Parts: sequence; C-alpha cells; structure tokens
Amino acid sequence: GLPERVTIWEVGARDGLQNEATVVPVDVKLEFLARLAEAGLGVLEATSFVHPKWVPQLADAEDLLAGLTKVDGVSYPVLVPNERGLDRALAAGVQHIAIFGSATETFAKRNLNRTLDEQFAMFEPVVTRARAEGLDVRAYVSMCFGDPWEGPVAADQVAAVGKRLMDMGCGQLSLGDTIGVATPGQVEAVIAAASGAGVPIGDIAVHFHDTYGQALSNTLAALRLGVTTVDSSAGGLGGCPYAESATGNLATEDLVWMLDGLGIKTGVDLDKLADTSAWMAGQLGRPAPSRVVQALRG
Ligand code: HMG
Ligand code: MG
Repeated sequence: GLPERVTIWEVGARDGLQNEATVVPVDVKLEFLARLAEAGLGVLEATSFVHPKWVPQLADAEDLLAGLTKVDGVSYPVLVPNERGLDRALAAGVQHIAIFGSATETFAKRNLNRTLDEQFAMFEPVVTRARAEGLDVRAYVSMCFGDPWEGPVAADQVAAVGKRLMDMGCGQLSLGDTIGVATPGQVEAVIAAASGAGVPIGDIAVHFHDTYGQALSNTLAALRLGVTTVDSSAGGLGGCPYAESATGNLATEDLVWMLDGLGIKTGVDLDKLADTSAWMAGQLGRPAPSRVVQALRG
C-alpha cells in the first residue's frame, strides 16, 4: 500500500544552490526560503557549514542564519561535516543538522578529503556532541546506487555504512542517488538491505537526483515499501560539485504532482511552489528543469 501522508524534505536552498555557477545573494536565498515556507513545505534544508573554499556558493551560511525569519512549524536543517562545522552551526542557533557520508572510497576522498574509515571518525564526535546539545541529526549516505568512478555499489555496503552512521545516534537515514542512475529494482534492494541491517523503514528517507529521469519511479518504489520522507528540490535545481555527472534533484513540483494525483497529503500548495520556482529561475537566468514547472508556467 501507499502512505496517507508524505513529508517532503526540501533541499533547494542547499543541494539546489550549491551547484549553481553563480553565487546567489543572501537576500535572494532568504526570499526563496520564505516563499518555500509560504508554499507549505515544513522542512527546508537551508545551507551547509562546510569549508567555504569547498563550496563558495554556501559560504554565507552565517549571514543566512542571521537573516532568517523562522516560521513556526518549519525546521531548517543544515549540512555539517565536522566539528568545526558543528561549532559554526551551534553559534548560528541551528537545531537540526545532517552529516553526509559516502558509501564508496572514491567519493569519500573527493567530497570529504577522507577515507571511508576516516569519515566515521570525523562524524562520530559531531553526532555525539550534537545529540548532547539536543539537536536532531540526519545521516545522508551518497552513491548508494552507483558511483561515477567505481561503478555499481553493493547494497550490503550501503546498508553497512548507513547502519554505522545510525548507530552513532542519528534519527534518520537518507539514501542518496547522487548521480541519478538508480532504477526501481535497485531501490527495493538497497532499502531491503538497510532494513535488513536493522534500520527501521520509518527512519529511512530517499534522495534521488533525476539525471536519467528515474527519480519519480524510484520514489514510488520507495513509498510502496513504507518510506514516508522524500527529498526533493524546488524547480529541480541541484547537484553535487564533487560528483561527476550529477544533475538536478527530483523536482518538488514533479513529486507533488504525483502525490496529489495519488491522493497522498503533503501540505504543499503547488501553485505557490511553481510561482516560487519560476521566480527563482528568473534570478538564476535559466529555466527551471522541472517538467511540472514548465507545464504550469512555461
Ligand atoms: P579538509 O581540507 O580535509 O579540512 O576538508 P581539514 O579538516 O584538513 O581542515 C583544514 C582547514 O579548514 C582548517 O583551517 C579548518 O579549520 C578549516 P586551518 O586550521 O588550516 O586554518 N575547516 C573549516 N572551516 C570552516 N568550516 C568547516 C571547516 N572544516 C575545516 N566546516 C572538509 C574537509 C570536510 C571540511 C571538506 O572536504 C568539505 O568542506 N567538504 C564538503 C563538500 C560538500 O559540501 N559537498 C556537497 C554536499 S554533499 C552532497 O551534495 C550529497 C547529498 O546531496 C546527498 C546525495 O545527493 O547523495 C547530501
Ligand atoms: Mg544531493
């Protein structure tokens, strides 16, 4: 069966903007977040406290948090890779963080400058301290369905990495198809492996990039297995600068169109959301990749 309600984890301001050629002014980011909240999205991943040289697009994280008017009932998680990032996030008054691990050796090196083992040593004190401070912590795992350098990734390897991060004290595991290559059978296999390793299905979220046009099919496969949290990006912006051939995330509008059609509640006003993405496309000087935005506003 399918869930009655899905929580959309909106990553447009983070995954969406981290990959843009231009640095978006902080005031535009703040308006983007305000409009996303106004459109009914309840989780807005806001920015990253990563090294500013690694992701210059999000180097304004402190200014963004300082300027943010938090809407009641909306959470604003941020990415944090290490203790330095946690210090910065705590100083900015953040209540919800996400660590982001890799399922593969090559991507751990390229994205985090760490080996697979070293990434756990980096994350462990982050999660322990964040939990002691009362923060919610999500764990991402990247390259769950394929890696541009290593090729196919074994489901058991993904499950082992995910379980190890969850055992540190994270509350949610987001399975990332960083380069958008997954197909639905693989999604079933990886989710089965993660739950077989002891991660409750209710703690699993999915994070699909849409490079090969499979993101919605993959989402439906995950929903059928009991997943109720889905990551997506307004307008379909997104991509990781450290992953070859990563394009936009599943577009939030495309997701909402499907969920509305299935009678699954999200709380999102599709019209307001499409207006927001059309406006953001104007700011970025290129059309929104989302098919639904193009159909509604093109
Ligand atoms: P490193 O160069 O190994 O850093 O980078 P280090 O630990 O050796 O420290 C070097 C210097 O950087 C030190 O300064 C640190 O203080 C400073 P010094 O003492 O030499 O003056 N530093 C920092 N400064 C500010 N904020 C920090 C920070 N950390 C260290 N947080 C590091 C290691 C992890 C920092 C780096 O590799 C990094 O920032 N990586 C982030 C890459 C990234 O953001 N990628 C995109 C997000 S992941 C993604 O998109 C995938 C996802 O969407 C899911 C999916 O699609 O699969 C989540
Ligand atoms: Mg991503």
